[in-house]
Amino acid sequence: MTSDDRPITVPDLIAMKSAGRKISVLTAYDYTMARLVDAAGVEAILVGDSLGMVVQGHANTLPVTLKQMIYHGEMVARAVRRALVIVDMPFPSFHLGINKSVGNAARIVKRTGCQAVKLEGGGEQAPVIAAMVSAGIPVMGHVGLRPQSVHQLGGYRVQRDAQRLLADAKAVEQAGAFSIVLECTAAEIADRVTAELSIPTIGIGAGAGCDGQVLVLNDLLGLTPGHVPRHVKAAADLKGEIARAVTQYRDEVRAGTFPGKEQTFR
Ligand code: KIV
Repeated sequence: MTSDDRPITVPDLIAMKSAGRKISVLTAYDYTMARLVDAAGVEAILVGDSLGMVVQGHANTLPVTLKQMIYHGEMVARAVRRALVIVDMPFPSFHLGINKSVGNAARIVKRTGCQAVKLEGGGEQAPVIAAMVSAGIPVMGHVGLRPQSVHQLGGYRVQRDAQRLLADAKAVEQAGAFSIVLECTAAEIADRVTAELSIPTIGIGAGAGCDGQVLVLNDLLGLTPGHVPRHVKAAADLKGEIARAVTQYRDEVRAGTFPGKEQTFR
């Protein structure tokens, strides 16, 4: 990790694992939130395709397009001064053969100004990851629960196939990924993967043994309506705070007490 204010790099994150320092990552999808999150001091900001659910209101991440990821990635990268910015590759932008997939990753990096891309998948994605890395594009892997494969996995379930997870994580590392997200995996398996890889593991619902953690920002801030996954620990209740502020505004408008003298020009 950098001790000063210089931007965090891919080698910095790898060095944090060697130094035994935990890595904190959060998602962000727009300029305002990205500025706040960056200023508060996480090491990396992920423009996740979870925006399909938390920003766009879809039931899953599958409808998100490359154009939309670039649109949100641009806003976030414009806001961030220090954190490493990683943009998710949406379905199916990296399943289109090596040339097209590398082209799509390059488009994300060129258009947004982010420093890395993330893509879901294990051993089967190794050739694509290796081609992106040899084009100079840092890649974060993503194994365990892969939301883009929700239909194939039969739902958002905790992943417990230790052999498969370990093989996938190793294949992603060997392909040259600089880090790997482990989503919703049994903690003992995540611990083993973390011990056997030299790149940092970033867990979400994968226990405390990972080299770092990532959460969806809206979940952390208490903005998510309805069901919140078990792995989330909300650190604020912005849903409640927004309801309070909007109700107060509505009541003041109705009562004629807003705008007051201070908000009125003469
Ligand atoms: O899309 C996303 O936000 C993610 C994280 C939850 C890891 O992939």
